[in-house]
Amino acid sequence: MNELMNHTAEMGQMEMFSRAWYNEYFRRAAESPAHSRFCKAVYGIDLCQHGMMDIEEMGFLASLLSVGEKVLEVGCSNGYITEYLHEKTGSHILGLDYADAAIAQAQDRNRDKAGTLNFQCVDLIHDELPGDDYDVILAIDSIYFMGDYNKILVKLNARLRPGGRMIIAAFQVKEEHDSDAILLPGHTRMDQALQALSFRYVQHDFTPNIRNHWIKNYQFSRMLQPEFADEGNAFLCEARMAENGWFKDHAERGTLVRFMYVIEHNADLAPC
Ligand SMILES: C[S@@+](CC[C@H](N)C(=O)[O-])C[C@H]1O[C@@H](n2cnc3c(N)ncnc32)[C@H](O)[C@@H]1O
Repeated sequence: MNELMNHTAEMGQMEMFSRAWYNEYFRRAAESPAHSRFCKAVYGIDLCQHGMMDIEEMGFLASLLSVGEKVLEVGCSNGYITEYLHEKTGSHILGLDYADAAIAQAQDRNRDKAGTLNFQCVDLIHDELPGDDYDVILAIDSIYFMGDYNKILVKLNARLRPGGRMIIAAFQVKEEHDSDAILLPGHTRMDQALQALSFRYVQHDFTPNIRNHWIKNYQFSRMLQPEFADEGNAFLCEARMAENGWFKDHAERGTLVRFMYVIEHNADLAPC
């Protein structure tokens, strides 16, 4: 179990990060001017984000994708990031998420692009992945929700074409019981899973970005709290506040790192 899930809190009747919770989140976020302002201020661009990737890291990610590449994005939420990457790179993307309300929003906005940009409601733990022979499988702050890292890496690897790659953006924190080494490149939990499965990969360090992200996330959620409340969207603000204190503490203590892992297809791994 990873750190993000470990510190989840109950919000009303809905368990945080459940499908129902994400549906509620994206139903409200898509209509919320305060959320839009929050994203612009915190990420540098409003793509209705709920992850941790700022505009600089997004630009780097876009530079790794090419025109016409067949991309699967897992955990795409309501698809604004997917659309942005599609437009910037000319890659053909299928976005998956289990939040059906979020997927419906993405589908409604993009019906005219059905040849090159599609969205589908899929539970990444329980359902089969659609399609195969992907050039790229992309996971932006969604890998934490997909269970055991080793299992999901094997599952995703099986849908790549030979020579394809996975791109996974993920954070790592050091908690009391962890050794200091867990924060070092080559030693995070994702590194450990990748090495155990003999993947070849490179990792790009976005630690300054994520530390800055959580400090801004903390500040702007408090600054915009009255605007969220006036809109009747206190839920969105409380959702951010429920996690940003924990992350800000780690950012300030220097116990939070972030990497983008670019991972080569491993032809020797048997699909599970
Ligand atoms: C932290 S958000 C990241 C969203 C987006 N990638 C971003 O960076 O803003 C995690 C996303 O994973 C989705 N998710 C969580 N568990 C899932 C599952 N079992 N199957 C499919 N999607 C899931 C959520 O609905 C949510 O959209």
